[in-house]
Amino acid sequence: MRLMIIGQLEGFISQAGKIALQKGAKVVHCEDSEQAIGALLNGKGADLVMIDVKQKIKAFIDRLNNERIHIPVIACGIGTDARAAVKAIQEGAKEYVPLPPDADLIAAVLEAVTEENNTMIAEDPAMKEVVKLADKIAPSEATIFITGESGTGKEVMSQYIHRKSKRKDGPFIALNCAAIPENLLESELFGHEKGAFTGATSRRIGKFEEAHAGTLLLDEISEMDIGLQAKLLRVLQERVITRVGSNDAVKVDVRVIATSNRNMEESIQKGEFREDLYFRLNVVNVGLPALRERPGDVPALAQFFADKYAEANGVPKKKISKEAQAALKTYGWRGNIRELENAMHRAILVSTEDEIEESAIHLQDGPAPAATQASTAQSSASSATVENPGGVESLIGQTVAHVERDLIINTLDHCLGNRTHAANILGISIRTLRNKLNQYKDDGSDIAASGAK
Ligand SMILES: Nc1ncnc2c1ncn2[C@@H]1O[C@H](COP(=O)(O)OP(=O)(O)OP(=O)(O)O)[C@@H](O)[C@H]1O
Ligand SMILES: [Mg+2]
Repeated sequence: MRLMIIGQLEGFISQAGKIALQKGAKVVHCEDSEQAIGALLNGKGADLVMIDVKQKIKAFIDRLNNERIHIPVIACGIGTDARAAVKAIQEGAKEYVPLPPDADLIAAVLEAVTEENNTMIAEDPAMKEVVKLADKIAPSEATIFITGESGTGKEVMSQYIHRKSKRKDGPFIALNCAAIPENLLESELFGHEKGAFTGATSRRIGKFEEAHAGTLLLDEISEMDIGLQAKLLRVLQERVITRVGSNDAVKVDVRVIATSNRNMEESIQKGEFREDLYFRLNVVNVGLPALRERPGDVPALAQFFADKYAEANGVPKKKISKEAQAALKTYGWRGNIRELENAMHRAILVSTEDEIEESAIHLQDGPAPAATQASTAQSSASSATVENPGGVESLIGQTVAHVERDLIINTLDHCLGNRTHAANILGISIRTLRNKLNQYKDDGSDIAASGAK
């Protein structure tokens, strides 16, 4: 967790920085927002910015947006000056933290804003095996390919490997290859020089350089354009990058972890993914089992999420009733841990009894088809459809476009607005999802707010 503090915070800067340091954050300080932008463009990454309300917050956030630097910004000011707080939030700050800094509040903010996925629950023997493998390979420098259905914990696993590696004190940088428009991904990875393309108003360091001496997670790498795959392959072979618009090679010392929820052999066969790149990345494969293949993890995960959301929402923690436990265990979990998380989030909010009752847990589909445990989220969804023909019959009379719209919007709601996960569950690219949602919005539909990374 890297925290950037901008401005003097009314003289409380060292106090705030000290609290953050104690909570394990790495802290850098910039005198003003200009200096901060300069540092960020030069590869001094940050996961969170705390900025003095006296700084030009709007200009700073606009500049971040222009440079496509996505960091949550927290404003800080003396006491509870409501007007300053409201203004800062209107200008794009995520939170307002009053000064002098309160240790618990800073800790809560660090936690809430960065949503670090640190907890790795592994109770089921199948998952314990995977963690054992991860422990073994983490200290090596090998490139790792993590596969698993959507929501099985690929990102959690990559952070776990980083923490267990020799690079743990270096940065962990994640880049979601599916969430960034194709034409911008190259500069996001390798950086660009000033004037390299329209809109490149300053030189910018890419993720490879930012991850120097640390780990770079290339999330959903299967979505990367084939032309860029060739460039990435060269980088992995030669360990040098070239910024867009430059001819100079820059040495990089980065360990790469890639993830995918697709069947890569299929992608290779279809000509969508380069086989040579796949071999380069897949030095070690860590395959995460689907949640239905590790039922022993369900109780611990369910309780973990129930407690997490009880805390986040300020409601009392509760145990899960026996009946509810049984229902959770037999359910199919096509959306895997992500779906379980959402179900428990809802459950703790709607539960009215002393223990979380079965009816508080809203399960959408039935149990997993026992004989044909599908290996991808998509095929498992289609086998369910066949098992439930009534579900399809009730749709007769509607147009494909109409059903598609309902499916997309409901899935997005189910994912609490998280576009990345909705796209994964739907088996479409983020780009396609985004275009469809824009179209529905234009047609007047209500779309869940974006919670996507
Ligand atoms: N072993 C685990 N213990 C505790 N929580 C977990 C574990 N694995 C995953 N989670 C939680 O489940 C959710 C999904 O995990 P994560 O984002 O890592 O999955 P993913 O495979 O990357 O999903 P997607 O394919 O949708 O991007 C996160 O909230 C994460 O914190
Ligand atoms: Mg992921």
